[in-house]
Amino acid sequence: MHGPIILLLGGTGEASQMARALAESGLRAVFSYAGRTAAPRPQPLPTRIGGFGGVAGLADYLRAHGITHLIDATHPFAAQMSRNAIEACAATGVKLIALERPAWQAEHSDDWQSFVSLEEAAAALPERPARVFLAIGKQNLDLFAARQDHFYLLRLVDAPVAPLPFRDAACVIDRGPFSLENDLALLRAHRITHLVAKNAGGIGAAAKLAAARALGVKILMVERPALPARRIAQSPEAVLAWLAHGAERGV
Ligand SMILES: NC(=O)c1ccc[n+]([C@@H]2O[C@H](COP(=O)([O-])OP(=O)(O)OC[C@H]3O[C@@H](n4cnc5c(N)ncnc54)[C@H](OP(=O)(O)O)[C@@H]3O)[C@@H](O)[C@H]2O)c1
Repeated sequence: MHGPIILLLGGTGEASQMARALAESGLRAVFSYAGRTAAPRPQPLPTRIGGFGGVAGLADYLRAHGITHLIDATHPFAAQMSRNAIEACAATGVKLIALERPAWQAEHSDDWQSFVSLEEAAAALPERPARVFLAIGKQNLDLFAARQDHFYLLRLVDAPVAPLPFRDAACVIDRGPFSLENDLALLRAHRITHLVAKNAGGIGAAAKLAAARALGVKILMVERPALPARRIAQSPEAVLAWLAHGAERGV
């Protein structure tokens, strides 16, 4: 059969948009989830769930399924998966493109500090008790466990199964995209003074930033992990154009 056979690495709103674009174009593609959430959103593509088993496992998968093109639409902080994709594609000759949203930028009036790691952000929380929206998902909460003087607001996709590592915390179960109205109400209801976030970029999770701006909340932003150079597109349309170009040239 002619035409590309695509593996789409997902787990983001942008990946879901990409899946729609591929399905509407009638392209052959498989969607891949890591399996971190209990009920992942259904996709309009055949879907597999779970890790591949490192670089070697991914390379085996690419070969076994005759994949010609890999689209990495994982979260900008899913750096392990993105590194594995770069290496496995190099080893198998599969063409790789990353759907990467531009990082959020501080605006002039923001009270915004940048950090290279969550550990640094945790260390920068004030000595006096603060009310912190810890918008970092469920992984890495332990990094803040040493700072028990603060109140923490968490927003998670699934209700936590283990006790939270905090004395004083509230947990909202919700998944994006989030609206400004919703996030303004949330920050006000919990009298949030500090927002800790990962610089994901994109629009699905940007409302918390706009709400923090509007309410004068301090922003502690962890910037993205660095990745080796790779081909990048900023929209599903640009990925489709790349796929069409490759197909025309028979690659
Ligand atoms: N990190 C975040 O802040 C964040 C936020 C929102 C959504 N997500 C999504 O959550 C998932 C996991 O993120 P993470 O930060 O834990 O990733 P990670 O640390 O980069 O990846 C850890 C391992 O999880 C597996 N994996 C990750 N993404 C996968 C995918 N799309 N399909 C199949 N296996 C995958 C791989 O296992 P093997 O080595 O066994 O192949 C990978 O080595 C990703 O799909 C990501 O897009 C992450």
